[in-house]
Amino acid sequence: MQGDGLGIVEDGAVAARAGRIAWVGPRADLAGPAAETTDCAGAWILPGLIDCHTHLVFGGDRAEEFERRLAGEDYAAILKAGGGILSTMRATRAADEDALLAAALPRTRALLAEGVTTLEVKSGYGLALDAELRQLRAARRLGAELPLSVVTTLLAAHAVPPEFAGRRADYARHVAEIILPAAAAAGLVDAVDVFHDPLAFDDADTALVLDAAARLGLPAKLHGDQHGDAGSAALGARHRVLSVDHLERASPPGLRAMADAGTVAVLLPGCTYFLRETSRPDIAAMRAAGLRMAVATDFNPGSSPALSLLLMLNMACTLFRLTVAEALRGVTVQAAAALGLADRGRIAPGLRCDLALFRIARPAELCYWLGHNPCTGRVVEGR
Ligand code: NIG
Ligand code: FE
Repeated sequence: MQGDGLGIVEDGAVAARAGRIAWVGPRADLAGPAAETTDCAGAWILPGLIDCHTHLVFGGDRAEEFERRLAGEDYAAILKAGGGILSTMRATRAADEDALLAAALPRTRALLAEGVTTLEVKSGYGLALDAELRQLRAARRLGAELPLSVVTTLLAAHAVPPEFAGRRADYARHVAEIILPAAAAAGLVDAVDVFHDPLAFDDADTALVLDAAARLGLPAKLHGDQHGDAGSAALGARHRVLSVDHLERASPPGLRAMADAGTVAVLLPGCTYFLRETSRPDIAAMRAAGLRMAVATDFNPGSSPALSLLLMLNMACTLFRLTVAEALRGVTVQAAAALGLADRGRIAPGLRCDLALFRIARPAELCYWLGHNPCTGRVVEGR
């Protein structure tokens, strides 16, 4: 049972050269002297954790909206009335790049402390060219100021801004023709995301943005099948996106199409929990289809103010009934696949030497504790 499918090496060692893993195996088989050795004091060594879905850079917070929801108001109704994502848009537009960075740094440090070495950050609270670029630049600066890799995703198609009120399709065209090409030309876009949902963008809007991404040679992802079965899974598969994320209401045929296309399902249990969502992603159908499942925080101010990837491991197991091995693969190798990164997520020769060290007795502990952090160290590119 212990760690089925995880490829555990007892009393193991990892050797690195020039930031890459050179060798991994039982310590007794380690050959040759090393310029430098580190005794991990019995800690378990995992691939550095990857949070493959966050909205980490934004202004303000939504604690007041949380209180309103506690009093009975509904997430969708608040958004339709101009709050929700749009209230974070106003706070984000009001913040300069330094202020966005200053707010994001402690959030990032919280994730790093748990062993995260690669972090995806989406825009999507600017909803206009300048403000989207500001978010992406602040995200890139996180990666320059802290020891981790940051992957930036343009999510300008997150909500319809007030300038385009009542003209959703026009805004989608504006994203495809103006915002995306400009952000890509600025070198700030690693991937493109669209909120494909009854609350946001429809098939035609989404196709416009995905086609524009494809023309620029950029990979894409979708927020999909969250508040309704919008057919996002099948749409994402048709467009060969890297991942479709959320999927609380996706249908089994759509999930099978994703598996056939090599698209990853990103599970976001913090959002399910925080919105008290009763619909669950169909894990049985995902397993039956052989669909790869990643797990992420979806850290954002509205639906998942969750700065703990370890807590998400627990929630993925308790709420979605993932096994320990599925959950741990979900924040390592499958999260790397959700970002299109083949150079990390496992401990294997040739890959980046990004590692996370944990003082635990067995891997299940990483999914078991609630609010306890056993991470004792991180290695990023061999350092
Ligand atoms: O991933 N689903 C859309 N976007 C975010 C929530 C954004 C917000 O409420 O600010 C999500 O859940
Ligand atoms: Fe999200």
